[in-house]
Amino acid sequence: MKGVILAGGTGSRLFPLTKVTNKHLLPVYDEPMIYYPLKTLVGAGIKDVLIVSGRGHVGHFLELLGSGADIGVRLSYEIQKEAGGIAQALGLAEHFADGDNVTVILGDNIFEDNVREDIASFKTGARIFLKKVYDPGRFGVADVDERYRRVRNIEEKPRIPKSDYAVTGLYVYDNSVFDVIRTLKPSGRGELEITDVNNYYIASDSMSYTILGGYWSDAGTFDSLMLASQLVKRKKTGKDRISNLPPLVAAYHK
Ligand code: DAU
Repeated sequence: MKGVILAGGTGSRLFPLTKVTNKHLLPVYDEPMIYYPLKTLVGAGIKDVLIVSGRGHVGHFLELLGSGADIGVRLSYEIQKEAGGIAQALGLAEHFADGDNVTVILGDNIFEDNVREDIASFKTGARIFLKKVYDPGRFGVADVDERYRRVRNIEEKPRIPKSDYAVTGLYVYDNSVFDVIRTLKPSGRGELEITDVNNYYIASDSMSYTILGGYWSDAGTFDSLMLASQLVKRKKTGKDRISNLPPLVAAYHK
């Protein structure tokens, strides 16, 4: 199993913080954002990780993380020329994957859970990781048939969400994903969408899912960046108790 961290994109929702600095280098509590997805992959037992980012930023990741030897992984780097979408960024990992399965994580996603078992038990098709959230309309939303343990469909940022299950930015695919990406057309926002990739696997009945028990947050907006720091601080120090989170948020992070 290979690992891929997607750390490209423009970070436009965090301007001016991201005018000079790449989003994934901003602090989440006491560490640069990218440390968290990297630790999620390392915690899952993945030893070979590709970091995809824009031309102007790849050097910063290399300076920060080097070869990865310090943390027991081998790091490689790839450039995404323009922000053509999550699926386009993943497509750049084909050579690196070299026929193997891939676990993909978005560089702005912060997970509490250890997903080693879910990744070890993966065989073919695709697997996604779902989390109940209070604001599903900000994400890909999964319509889940819990009785038959299947996902019926995923909608990207729906106006009227069919559930409160967000599709988090952690995905496991077999090597067919690169053929699937080649069939994609740009969406309304001009990007190759990871949701289209996932709906392909749902339609071909080869999608499985895990519901996360621990906290999860993206960190791509001012509010979610602050929430991610609060959740991490609470975990690392035991301080900043849940009561300090906004009540609506707290209800989803017991
Ligand atoms: O956070 C989870 C959500 O991430 C999912 O629920 C959505 O289904 C998925 O589309 C995505 O939504 P966002 O619109 O929030 O994604 P965003 O454009 O913020 O990109 C998230 C990360 O993906 C970003 O931190 C870096 C990487 N990325 C993104 C783009 C557009 C790239 O590496 N290259 C890109 O071109």
